[in-house]
Amino acid sequence: MSVRSSGSRALLLADAAKEFAADVQYYLTLHPRQLPSRYLYDALGSALFDAICRLPWYGITRAEARLLETHGPDVFDRLERVSTIVELGSGDGEKLRVLVQSGASHARPLTIHFVDVSSAALTASARTLSELDEVAIVLHETTYEAGLEELAEQPRTAGRTLAVFLGSNIGNFDAPGADEFLRAIRRGLLPGDGLLLGADLVKPERALRLAYDDPLGVTAAFNRNLLVRINRELGGDFDVDAFGHRAVWNEAASRVEMHLVAQRAQRVRIPAAELEVSFDQGERIWTESSYKYEPKQIVAMLESAGFQCAAQWIDAVDRFALTLVEAV
Ligand code: AVI
Repeated sequence: MSVRSSGSRALLLADAAKEFAADVQYYLTLHPRQLPSRYLYDALGSALFDAICRLPWYGITRAEARLLETHGPDVFDRLERVSTIVELGSGDGEKLRVLVQSGASHARPLTIHFVDVSSAALTASARTLSELDEVAIVLHETTYEAGLEELAEQPRTAGRTLAVFLGSNIGNFDAPGADEFLRAIRRGLLPGDGLLLGADLVKPERALRLAYDDPLGVTAAFNRNLLVRINRELGGDFDVDAFGHRAVWNEAASRVEMHLVAQRAQRVRIPAAELEVSFDQGERIWTESSYKYEPKQIVAMLESAGFQCAAQWIDAVDRFALTLVEAV
């Protein structure tokens, strides 16, 4: 196995800090007040998300692992001659290891590109895949969009490319954002290349509420940590205790929403964002949407972005779908 870094970092640290400050200033002055969910993932937020994935009430990770384990070989049967895999948002590389090992006899030699803003996630992924023979790994420490552009500029090798976007990360985009993102993936591929998408399905409200408001309070900590991050990185004076975690199922929009709710009226200063905000008691900051789909809706969304469905597998225990499509 060989590992190399693509060498280009789209977001320099200073730029990232400026962007964070500008986003906090913009989104906290909207009504309803909001914060983009991508800022949930600093080092502590990422560790808390890893813990969420192990909670008995959060089934996404286990459902997807079961599907990859069972249907990994089918992916390489339906999409023959895969020579390149691109994983957007690498996590720790464990899911990809399961997929790649399942296709062992088909897909070799193989180049795997990991695209992630987190260097820790990239290092962990490279380590997880390090035991595999005839696999070259390229790390792209950048945003998904910049990573897709970098990949589009790389010379193509013989064989097909399989893009992989797992964990229902698609569900954290609103509908126009998801459409735009799937089209960006499509632009980075050639006809005949594939995309494997993991997406969570609509399920009973009680199961959804427990998944996003667990009895151990891990998801509440994950949500509140966003205020801890603002205090640390932007000099804010949020009283973290004065905000409660709320997860609501918005059936009309088919999404679970996470909010932080002010428990009392208060004024917060965030110097690096040049901002002072007053909160009424009960006022919310909307921090995340997690869209849930019907299987047909996932296929329709992919078709409208320029793909055709090759297969869809559904986990019956936790209602989760893995959809394999081909670029047309
Ligand atoms: C990363 N993403 C798909 C998770 C989700 O389910 O929307 C993030 C998460 N938020 C609360 N729990 C997990």
